[in-house]
Parts: sequence; C-alpha cells; structure tokens
Amino acid sequence: MHAILAHLNQDHGNVARLLEIFEREHRAHERGDPPNLPLLTQIMHYLTRYQDVFHHPREDVLFDRLAHRSAESAKVVAELKDEHVQLAEIGLRLVEVMTWEPAGSSVTADSLADYMTRLAAHMNRESAEVFSLSSIVLSRQDWQKIEDTTRRASDPVFGPRVEKSYRLVLERLTQDQSR
Ligand SMILES: [Fe+2]
Ligand SMILES: [Fe+2]
Repeated sequence: MHAILAHLNQDHGNVARLLEIFEREHRAHERGDPPNLPLLTQIMHYLTRYQDVFHHPREDVLFDRLAHRSAESAKVVAELKDEHVQLAEIGLRLVEVMTWEPAGSSVTADSLADYMTRLAAHMNRESAEVFSLSSIVLSRQDWQKIEDTTRRASDPVFGPRVEKSYRLVLERLTQDQSR
C-alpha cells in the first residue's frame, strides 16, 4: 500500500474513534444527560480544521487521478467530492451554532448526529469503493502528483504533539484506551 493511502486510512481510523466518542455522548444525551458541549466542539474543530483542510483535499486529488485512470469510477468520485463540500459546509455551520447558540438545544444534537452519520457513510464508501481500487490503478506518477500538489500537516490530535486546544479529546481517548 502506498504511504499516502496508508496515511488516509489511518485518518479514517482516527476519525472512527472520534465518531465512537460522539455516539456514546449522543446516547447519554438521549437518556437525559446534558451534552458535553466543550468536548463535542473540540471534536468538530478537529474535523473542520484538520480533516476538511488536509485530508479531504488530498483525497480530491486522488479522486481526480482515479477518474482519469478508470472511467467507471467517475460517478462515485464526483459524488464523494460533492460530499466533501457539503460536509465542510455543514461542519462549519455546526461549529458556529455550537459556539454561539445556547448549549444543548435538540436542534444541535440532531444535526450533529446527522452530520456524524453522513461522515461515517462517506468514509465507509471511500474505503470500500475507492481506496482499494486506487491501490491497483494509480501509477507512481499519480501518487507523486498527489504528494506534490497537496499539503501535509502534523495531526493536532493523533500526531506526535497534541495541541492544547484538543485537551478534552485527548483525555477522552486516553480514558477509552485504559478501559
Ligand atoms: Fe473524504
Ligand atoms: Fe476520507
């Protein structure tokens, strides 16, 4: 597997861990607990400031190369690129609502749940329909093009140095590991 693909896969694994945290929080909220808004906001910041800014643009270039190599993938690639735009828009709107509107409104909880469901489906589709095919059909030049035209950044939550602004996420991930 090419290092770029391994890295994208790793991002998916990391996001899946955050989605698990979100699901547990959501179930607790449905049972009547107040939402842990600071934690949820940090997760949303990570998704909109890291994944939307570094992960999705890399995939967009990969998708273009894939559509170029395999005409059958054009439809799925177009839909996934469209989902990147939609997810980024919804994500930013959610961050805005979570930052400025009263905590714990059911509108926020439902829209967050909807966003997380969409994100999970999006990643599953990429993993199932795009990543393995890319492994087969992309050339060395294609991978080089992806490397040359996209930026990489250190992951602020799962990378070697966790940014202070994600302290609550780190604490929760550490608790999950020791359970
Ligand atoms: Fe994606
Ligand atoms: Fe992805």
